[in-house]
Amino acid sequence: MSKHVLITGGAGFIGCHVVRLFVNKYPDYQIVNLDALTYAGNLENLKEVENSPNYTFEKVDIQDAEALEEVFKKHQITDVIHLAAESHVDRSISDPLAFVKTNVFGTVNLLNVAKEYWKDELNNHLFYHVSTDEVYGSLHDGGFFLETTAYDPQSPYSASKAASDHFVRAYANTYRMQTVVSNCSNNYGPNHFPEKLIPLCINNIKNGKPLPVYGKGENVRDWLFVKDHARAIDTVFHKGKAGETYNIGGFNEWKNIDIVRLLCKKMDEKLGREPGTSEKLITFVKDRAGHDLRYAIDATKIQQELGWEPSLQFEEGIELTIDWYLSNQDWLDHVTSGAYQDYYKELYEN
Ligand code: NAD
Ligand code: DAU
Repeated sequence: MSKHVLITGGAGFIGCHVVRLFVNKYPDYQIVNLDALTYAGNLENLKEVENSPNYTFEKVDIQDAEALEEVFKKHQITDVIHLAAESHVDRSISDPLAFVKTNVFGTVNLLNVAKEYWKDELNNHLFYHVSTDEVYGSLHDGGFFLETTAYDPQSPYSASKAASDHFVRAYANTYRMQTVVSNCSNNYGPNHFPEKLIPLCINNIKNGKPLPVYGKGENVRDWLFVKDHARAIDTVFHKGKAGETYNIGGFNEWKNIDIVRLLCKKMDEKLGREPGTSEKLITFVKDRAGHDLRYAIDATKIQQELGWEPSLQFEEGIELTIDWYLSNQDWLDHVTSGAYQDYYKELYEN
């Protein structure tokens, strides 16, 4: 039977890479991208596939059960890959309820609709929930997050993602739904919304604006190129064992300040500026409230059991990323001006 895969959040940063990968790699599948198009959703990310015969877009909020039911019926959804979420930690600090509504309530709503729609044959369908390493809390100098590490979320964002992970596992245990969860480290790459550290710095360096580094810039993150995460999602979806959790990471830890310096150095080279020019833009600012010190993923399980590993070295990925932003000025202009939000009307309302 051909799969009809519902990918939620497909207009966002990671989702658009997953949608493109699936539409191109699996012409026999029907790919339905369901997205509410919040500030983070950008259909311009999907120009490459928007006319593909196996691609459909549905503008729906995962909080709307009736609309979800219609989508399941209309497209005879066989499987779900759930990425839709509020994703930015700083926004979760100023508006935690928005994160509860989408990440917790929205996820449970989607689980309910999938469970009801698949009720006679739950064994034949997979609900894949895409989550984050932040659910494990904050590490100090040593150690790594394993799939067995106890949950200890520290921000409203990570608490909402942890709650959604728990609900997915509760539905597997209680209703015998086939589910799988993956928890990934920080992604970077093309189409990243410029509120996040790396694209924000690339944009500000280009425009000669300050580079805000929280606290002393000592916090550590493990970075993975977004296309490698999309490949990992493909691997888990097709080869992962139902009921399991897979950690995904880049084995690539960096202090924030070192990343910002690397971006300054590379951008000076690419823009033909004197070495050291962009570093002058670095500005240490007030720390993020409750700022997690260090995340580090042990991705041995997915490597050994499913044969996935990152394909790119960090410096290579950063070069590709900077080059993408420099050659996609239109994308950046539309995002910074807000014009990207009209693209849905242009495509579907004319
Ligand atoms: P993003 O913010 O770029 O995209 C989120 C997408 O979800 C947007 O297109 C938005 O319009 C959509 N959305 C938000 N609320 C919705 C709702 N109520 N109904 C329907 N659609 C809605 O996020 P991202 O960085 O691409 O992250 C995708 C997923 O991966 C999230 O679940 C996130 O927690 C997880 N994740 C992200 C990272 C990372 O580094 N970015 C790392 C690990 C896990
Ligand atoms: O670890 C996975 C998580 O990575 C995902 O689950 C989240 O959705 C994603 O947003 C990301 O969270 P972070 O908070 O780590 O990403 P962000 O780019 O916001 O910040 C990266 C680090 O840089 C963090 O330590 C905070 C710091 N920072 C961030 C911004 C936006 C700054 O120093 N200055 C900034 O302006």
